[in-house]
Parts: sequence; C-alpha cells; structure tokens
Amino acid sequence: MIVIGSDHGGLSLKSALKSYLERRGCTVADAGTDNDSSVDYPDFGLKVAEMVISGAAELGVLICGTGIGMSIAANKVPGIRAALVTDVFMARMAREHNNANILVLGGRVLDEQKACDLVGAWLDAAFEGGRHQGRLDKITEIEKKYR
Ligand code: RB5
Repeated sequence: MIVIGSDHGGLSLKSALKSYLERRGCTVADAGTDNDSSVDYPDFGLKVAEMVISGAAELGVLICGTGIGMSIAANKVPGIRAALVTDVFMARMAREHNNANILVLGGRVLDEQKACDLVGAWLDAAFEGGRHQGRLDKITEIEKKYR
C-alpha cells in the first residue's frame, strides 16, 4: 500500500497522482488534506511518515506547494528518507542510491504529467544496496546520535 498526503498547495496534484497510482494497480491510502482550506503541511507530513515507519504503508508520497516543507517535516521522523525530486533522474536515484521511502513533490512546481513520470520512475527503480547501504547506515548513526 502507498500512502499519499498533501497540504492545500498539493491537493490537486494529489488527486492526479492518486488516480495514476490506482491505474498502476497500487492500493492507495489518502491521508488528506481533502479540501482547499489552508492547512499546515507538518501535520500531513507526520501522518504519512508515521504510516510508513509503522509498516502500515510500504511507501509514501507527499506534496506541498514546493515540496520543501514536506521534505523537512517528514525527514524529522527517524527511519524516513524523504526525497524531494524535480526530474526523472533524481526520482530514479532516490530509490537506487538513497532507498527513499517517501517521494516528495511540489504541487506548484510540476505539471501532472511530469509528476506521474517522477512517481513512475521512483516506483520502477530498485535500491542497489552495496556501498549505498553503508551510507544509509551512516545516516542511521546520525539519527541515533541526536535522538
Ligand atoms: C503553503 O502556502 C506552502 O508554504 C506549502 O505548501 C509549502 O510549499 C511549504 O514548503
């Protein structure tokens, strides 16, 4: 299952990505927001991050206006590797090298087609492990140091 969440700045892209993911055959959980009233992105970033870290969802997608706030918020949760991407190469690398468990997009930055391409590239890629695992282990050590 993939959980998707946004603030008001990412709402319309969230709807488009939800349909895209369902067309791909994914089961999608929608963590909100569900209307265009102004909301605070950390609330939705936390909700999605907690679903991923608890195992309730395998992966997450977060969208705010730029993607910046959502990535900052989600990355505060230990074990989350949230990657803000703007092109297909970054989306692929986010999985192959960084094993990102949340993809973050900017609803005011990307058009729907581009956003679907980015999510598709991330889902189609696979973590390469090896030297990249060692680097992720070092990130875990940083989390432990400041926990
Ligand atoms: C909301 O106006 C906007 O600040 C938010 O969507 C996001 O871009 C924050 O990083």
